[in-house]
Amino acid sequence: MSAAESDGAPDRNLALELVRVTEAAALACARWVGRGDKEAADGAAVDAMRLLLDTVRMDGTVVIGEGEKDEAPMLFNGERIGDGSPPEVDIAVDPLEGTTLCARGSPNALAVIALAERGSMFDPGPCFYMEKMAAGDEHADLLDLDRPLTETLRLIADRKGTDVRDVMVVILDRPRHEEAVAEIREAGARIRFISDGDVAGALLAVTERTPVDLLWGIGGTPEGVLAAAGIKCIGGQILGRLWPRDEGERRAALDAGYDLDETLDADRLVAGEDVFFAATGVTDGDVLQGVRYQGTSGATTESLVMRSRSGTVRRVQATHDRAKLREIGRAERYG
Ligand code: FBP
Repeated sequence: MSAAESDGAPDRNLALELVRVTEAAALACARWVGRGDKEAADGAAVDAMRLLLDTVRMDGTVVIGEGEKDEAPMLFNGERIGDGSPPEVDIAVDPLEGTTLCARGSPNALAVIALAERGSMFDPGPCFYMEKMAAGDEHADLLDLDRPLTETLRLIADRKGTDVRDVMVVILDRPRHEEAVAEIREAGARIRFISDGDVAGALLAVTERTPVDLLWGIGGTPEGVLAAAGIKCIGGQILGRLWPRDEGERRAALDAGYDLDETLDADRLVAGEDVFFAATGVTDGDVLQGVRYQGTSGATTESLVMRSRSGTVRRVQATHDRAKLREIGRAERYG
């Protein structure tokens, strides 16, 4: 802890530095929106995010990254980032959350990053998926992965003082959710399907005055940790439980000491008390506007910039002069 922090004076809000990182990633991959090439879009976002991360003074370790070192040349799990000066932090990145959304020009693709104190982020190990449930503060205490989903929907309706027909659940559109979808429909509640992007789905579910009350479904564990970091800042709750894809993954998780029955809440997924979160819209979405181009050289971005300790939630609208960025040699990085 720095001298400034110990006497209660204002310290650095790393989220304000991280927003440059997510803006750069969003601007870089936005050049690929709608062009049908998700690998190229992701690669552009990864390059830009990695480059800008070097400007953040910290001693960081990537806990949630692009995968293991042999398959990810940059931002791989375990990579050390920063100049080694304090603070010591865990890093979770998703340079392009919703690669297919970006490639197809569909809504809700984001560039996302979160930081928290060293050792405080849940490392999902071999587990690719988790079952997730998220809602805002008003329904946080009603979340329960063991109770039948339809009962939870009824409890939410009672709390809202409405009929269950007025409860809306956001769900990834996947065959593995068919049974739950049938049950939700049977109970009379509504579903908003998303084709990808359950970080944006979780942020939508926890944000007040949106049409969505609950996120439910089996999605990526990295996205679960990132959503938990955002939720620690913005409020609400997320519950997760590891969901092995097959017997091999189940065995690997058990051998590594994971408890597959454990319900992981936001504080378990990101145990830190000082969590920083930044996300920039790539394509227009429910939570953030995407990158928009103006004339031949202008672009605008919208970002969410948050810190759990202070509870400050900022929306940052930025105008970027791509001609000037080109002049200073950052054209390919920023689009
Ligand atoms: P990518 O950005 O890696 O394409 O992930 C998008 C996403 O939809 C996540 O938001 C979600 O958690 C996960 O994929 C779901 O995985 P799957 O597509 O395998 O069902």
